[in-house]
Amino acid sequence: MQLSSVVYMSRSTDQVTSEVLDRLLLDARSNNAAVGVTGVLLHGDKRFFQYFEGSASAVSDVYARIRRSTLHTDLIELEHQSIPERRFHKWFMGFREAPGSVLQKLSHEQWDRERPWVEDHAPNSPGIRRLLAFLEASGGDE
Ligand SMILES: Cc1cc2nc3c(=O)[nH]c(=O)nc-3n(C[C@H](O)[C@H](O)[C@H](O)COP(=O)(O)O)c2cc1C
Repeated sequence: MQLSSVVYMSRSTDQVTSEVLDRLLLDARSNNAAVGVTGVLLHGDKRFFQYFEGSASAVSDVYARIRRSTLHTDLIELEHQSIPERRFHKWFMGFREAPGSVLQKLSHEQWDRERPWVEDHAPNSPGIRRLLAFLEASGGDE
């Protein structure tokens, strides 16, 4: 199965209260579980940052859902590529509140792998490494 991943940032609208965010996560996780998409969503300083991965067709369906949502605007794609393996096996959509400075740094990272032709045990891109480091430092399993 061909796997792919997407990384983007967007601006959350004023409609996004913590209640709306809870509903969004419930909806996203149940859909992701049904289609086998995993990843993580960060929110802070009126911005979203999301990394998600799965089969190429599930990723493009989920991406279309995400782009249709009126809960955010100004979506900027940082990466959309084929990947050799998943990074987030357990999370149908992990979530963290994050400081704006963290989102800012993530948006400036390189997200594509340095050696995309290496099919197995490819090194993580600098962006993935920074994301994993933030998740580890902020603790918890969701
Ligand atoms: C920041 C953000 C992340 C989302 N992530 C996912 C996701 O991972 N999987 C998914 O199926 N839908 C995802 N969605 C779509 C939502 O689950 C839901 O369909 C949408 O927010 C409903 O928005 P609407 O009220 O504007 O239609 C996301 C939407 C937003 C705004």
